[in-house]
Amino acid sequence: MSILIKGGTLVTDTLTTDGDILCDGDKIIAIGPDLEAPSGASIIDASGQFVMPGGIDPHTHMQLPFMGTVAIDDFYSGTAAGLAGGTTSIIDFVIPEAGTSLLEAYHRWRGWAEKSAADYSFHVAVTWWDDSVHEDMGTLVRDHGVNSFKHFMAYKGVMMATDEILVASFERCIELGAIPTVHAENGDLIYHLQKKLLAMGITGPEGHPLSRPPEVEAEAANRAIRIAEALGSPIYVVHVSTKEALDAITRARGNGQRVFGECLPGHLIFDDSVYLNTDWEQAAGHVMSPPFRPKDNQRALWKGLQSGHLQTTATDHCAFCNDQKAMGKDDFTLIPNGTAGIEERMSLMWNEGVRTGRLTMNEFVAVTSANAARIFNIYPRKGCLAVGSDADIVVWDPEGSKTISASTQHSKIDFNIFEGMTLNGIPSHTLSRGRIFYKDGELSAEEGYGKYIDRPPYASYYDALQKIAGSRELKPVIRD
Ligand code: URP
Ligand code: ZN
Ligand code: ZN
Repeated sequence: MSILIKGGTLVTDTLTTDGDILCDGDKIIAIGPDLEAPSGASIIDASGQFVMPGGIDPHTHMQLPFMGTVAIDDFYSGTAAGLAGGTTSIIDFVIPEAGTSLLEAYHRWRGWAEKSAADYSFHVAVTWWDDSVHEDMGTLVRDHGVNSFKHFMAYKGVMMATDEILVASFERCIELGAIPTVHAENGDLIYHLQKKLLAMGITGPEGHPLSRPPEVEAEAANRAIRIAEALGSPIYVVHVSTKEALDAITRARGNGQRVFGECLPGHLIFDDSVYLNTDWEQAAGHVMSPPFRPKDNQRALWKGLQSGHLQTTATDHCAFCNDQKAMGKDDFTLIPNGTAGIEERMSLMWNEGVRTGRLTMNEFVAVTSANAARIFNIYPRKGCLAVGSDADIVVWDPEGSKTISASTQHSKIDFNIFEGMTLNGIPSHTLSRGRIFYKDGELSAEEGYGKYIDRPPYASYYDALQKIAGSRELKPVIRD
């Protein structure tokens, strides 16, 4: 089955040019001016529109068992919502309970993900440590296409990685050519502040940001980055939300360290006043970690994207309905942490980024797709418009608009933190591996169409890093 996308302006992270794209089967097979449609091909008229690589969301949690409940979007509804918003691939997280096998957890998540409507891959979380974890990490990299491992520095007593675990795991990542990623918040400090606030009678959602002030993130980001530096490992910091954490990344990058940072549209748009809403549901609906931050942090994060010190945007899509959030009605520490956004990310970044002049169109592609593909080693199969790339394509209508509403979204969540925002710039068509699943407002996602994306380890990159790390003299002093 061939599809010819005709008459659009092709936009990648590196170029903007007029041209047509011909897809056959899963792949892009030709790019150029005035391509002929093979007989039987479907034609998409893209005139007046931009043709870009499909979005890659490198941070989602579909169907995550978390805080006594399970995130409401499963791999089908979540990836289908993504397709409606122009996102064609996700990287989700396997999170084994402490003390349980990484491999078993990986296979459990693979089973859940079989219903995905779009392509998917997995970071695997290191939540504890022993020889079997060391072994499983090797098996996951060598045999199962995993090249990134996640470390939650928060969530004490559940999945928090201590410094000892970070050190052991980062070192193992270096051996394997995998990249460690961190949720950077100091879990001990959060635990202490939560207890203190509850004892003071602060039980509502306003306690959430008070228990996780910016210092909590800054300390953890800096610690993780310095541990990575000492070991000679690269590192990817997820959902950077504060100026201080960004400063730690910027400083390290200026020093030649391979540090990458991700941010979320929510952190670019909202400040922490959302937690003061007198409507409990509204305030609790915004409870995610790290929390939304005092004003000024948003401006700093935009600058981080503009300067290239933050490379990716993700959603951390972890959707909980109002009745799930209500588990924390009398105690903010029990409100399931998480917000949604996979359907809105691309349009939010266009509306708030490109239309305001903060980002060029090429930077838009970089931060919504290409950079994630490069960092997680699936470029140019994904994140790229090139002959031989997967035909994951979004035809983008810059004049189209939509008003966000929980009542019309495809995600199963009954709340939307972006409710009521009108966004200019929406997909007119989303293609996943050469098939159209979203067209002019109609979603026709297919359960089980999505395929697992193998991500090979980053051998050559690591060789270079090891040379740098190896330049430090490591030898004993010879004494008489
Ligand atoms: O609040 C959040 N972000 N929930 C999902 C788990 C995580 O920390 O990423
Ligand atoms: Zn997190
Ligand atoms: Zn997350």
